[in-house]
Amino acid sequence: MIVVMGATGATGGATLRSLSALGVPTRALSRDPARLAAALDGPALALARPVAADAADPASLREAFQGAKQLLLTMANGPRQVQYELNAVEAALACGVEHIVKVSAPAAEPDSPVAVSRGHHLVEERLRASGVRTTVLRPYAFMQKLLLQAPAIAAGVLPGAMKRARCNYVDVRDVGEAAAEVLTRPESAGGTVPLTGPRPYSHQELAALLHELLGHPVRHLELSPSEFHAHLAGRAGMPDWLATHVVEIQQLATLREEEPDDAFTRLTGRAPRTLEAFLGEHLHHFR
Ligand SMILES: NC(=O)c1ccc[n+]([C@@H]2O[C@H](COP(=O)([O-])OP(=O)(O)OC[C@H]3O[C@@H](n4cnc5c(N)ncnc54)[C@H](OP(=O)(O)O)[C@@H]3O)[C@@H](O)[C@H]2O)c1
Repeated sequence: MIVVMGATGATGGATLRSLSALGVPTRALSRDPARLAAALDGPALALARPVAADAADPASLREAFQGAKQLLLTMANGPRQVQYELNAVEAALACGVEHIVKVSAPAAEPDSPVAVSRGHHLVEERLRASGVRTTVLRPYAFMQKLLLQAPAIAAGVLPGAMKRARCNYVDVRDVGEAAAEVLTRPESAGGTVPLTGPRPYSHQELAALLHELLGHPVRHLELSPSEFHAHLAGRAGMPDWLATHVVEIQQLATLREEEPDDAFTRLTGRAPRTLEAFLGEHLHHFR
């Protein structure tokens, strides 16, 4: 049995969809399983048994993991993320889970410039020390998160703070397919898997692509990190910690060149989804 944490969320939901499409039964975990039906369509849930558990409550996790062999460990970013994920690791170990697929992030290192990635490093370290079979997925920025910028883009502006650096956007549906692959083919499991799209984009290139697809000009607006933070926390309505995270991610791109990686193709046998295709599917959001 596979337990999918964060089943109402981006990576958990995408994994559940991919596993359902492969005909694999799952336990879909949420703090409020009633939310699963709102977050996912019928086919995605056809083979999923909803289970209530809260990562703040270790006993609820141990109950949810009873008899499970594999776990997708994925958690919303937030101030208590590391503790919640460590609770899930301990509960999985106590229940004899044999393979944990951890959704992590790039630069998961002790001195990472991205605070969330330092947290992912702590969880990865605990998994390594435990000796349990682990696959670490390290996706880059999700294409879907560009939808948060839709109001600004619709007004013809793409604000950012990464100068001419490029970002390796990946479609979260590919993250779900990669997770399903390592959960269903034991020979694919293990190791650390960077997940990228086929090519990275600078903000200048992204603005030009949006202009071409939308048919109206989209101007890249380079801001200082603090101006960009103010934009995200103000106009885009993000909580302060999330705005800080987005700024840190863009600063990371200026410090380390983002190159595409062929791990997804090696894993699944096909090329990752393109940013052009994603934007083409979602143009109505940017108009
Ligand atoms: N966004 C990106 O571009 C990006 C890029 C690379 C890596 N990542 C990493 O990917 C990971 C997953 O991101 P995501 O976008 O899939 O997350 P998400 O959609 O924001 O949230 C995932 C799930 O976490 C669950 N959750 C929150 N608190 C919980 C708790 N106390 N107990 C149990 N479940 C709880 C929620 O489920 P319920 O509300 O139903 O309980 C939610 O559906 C993050 O850790 C992030 O660092 C993200």
